[in-house]
Amino acid sequence: MSDFEGLKALVTGGASGIGRATADLLAARGAQVTVLDLDPSTVTKPLLARRADVTDDASVRAAVEAAAAEMGGLDILVNNAGIGAQGTVEDNDDAQWTRVLDVNVLGMVRTARAALPHLRGSQRAAIVNTCSIAATAGLPQRALYSASKGAVLSLTLAMAADHVREGIRVNCVNPGTVDTPWVGRLLDAADDPAAERAALEARQPTGRLVAAGEVAAAICYLASPLAGATTGTALAVDGGMQGLRLRPVMPS
Ligand code: NAI
Repeated sequence: MSDFEGLKALVTGGASGIGRATADLLAARGAQVTVLDLDPSTVTKPLLARRADVTDDASVRAAVEAAAAEMGGLDILVNNAGIGAQGTVEDNDDAQWTRVLDVNVLGMVRTARAALPHLRGSQRAAIVNTCSIAATAGLPQRALYSASKGAVLSLTLAMAADHVREGIRVNCVNPGTVDTPWVGRLLDAADDPAAERAALEARQPTGRLVAAGEVAAAICYLASPLAGATTGTALAVDGGMQGLRLRPVMPS
C-alpha cells in the first residue's frame, strides 16, 4: 500500500542521516519530497532539493514557497535539521547557546511558520519534529543540546494544540543514539572511538545504536494519514533507553 501517494513533503536537514533516510522512505512510499538543507548537493532524484539555512528566515521562506509551488502544495513538514553541543552548563558560551537554540528551536519555528499557510490547504496535514531522548532523560555533558530538545518537545505539544482544529497534526520522535554521520563525527573526535562506541551501545537496552531507517519509519508513521488520530505525542525510538530499567548483567 502506498499511504503517501499524492502527498507532498518537505524534510529539513534531509541531505544526511535521519533526514535523508526519512526523505528516501517517504518517496519510496509514494510521496513527492523536497529536501531543504544547507548543502543539498548529494540529494538525487526522485528527491527534489532546495538550499536553505534554517537560521535565515528569508532563505527558509523562499525555499518553502518554491518547494510548495514546484510540488503543487504541501501536506507534510518534517522538521529535522539540527546541530549538537557537548558540555555542562559551564562549558558553552552565550554565542554557542544562541547558535544551537537558533538552529534547533527557532529553525523549526521558521519552517513551520512558512509552511502552515500551505498545510492549511491539505486534507491530511502533518508536522513531525525530530526531538531527542535528551528532552526526557538527563544525559551527561549535554546541557545546551538537552535544553534545545526540551524546547522542541514543549513546542510540539503547543503546536499540536494550536493547530488541531485546523486539521494539522503535530508530533515528534525522540531517538536515542542513532548511527548517522553526526555520531560518526563524535566518535572520530573521541580519544578512544571504539570504547566510546561500545559505551553508547551499552547505554541502550537493545545493546546497539538505533539505525537511521528505524527513526525514519517512526517519522513516516506519524506523518502518515494512517496515524490520523495521533497528535501531540512523542514517540521514543531509543532501543528502550527511556522506558526500561534493566538489571545489570553480573559476571558469572
Ligand atoms: P546529520 O548531521 O547527519 O544531518 C543533519 C542535516 O541537517 C545535515 O544534512 C545538515 O546539513 C543539516 N543542517 C544543519 N544545520 C542546518 C541549517 N542551519 N539549515 C539547514 N540544514 C541544516 O544529523 P542526524 O544525526 O541525522 O540528526 C538529525 C536530527 O536528529 C537532529 O535534529 C538531531 O538533533 C536529531 N537527533 C540525532 C540523534 C543522533 O544520535 N544522531 C539522536 C537524537 C536526535
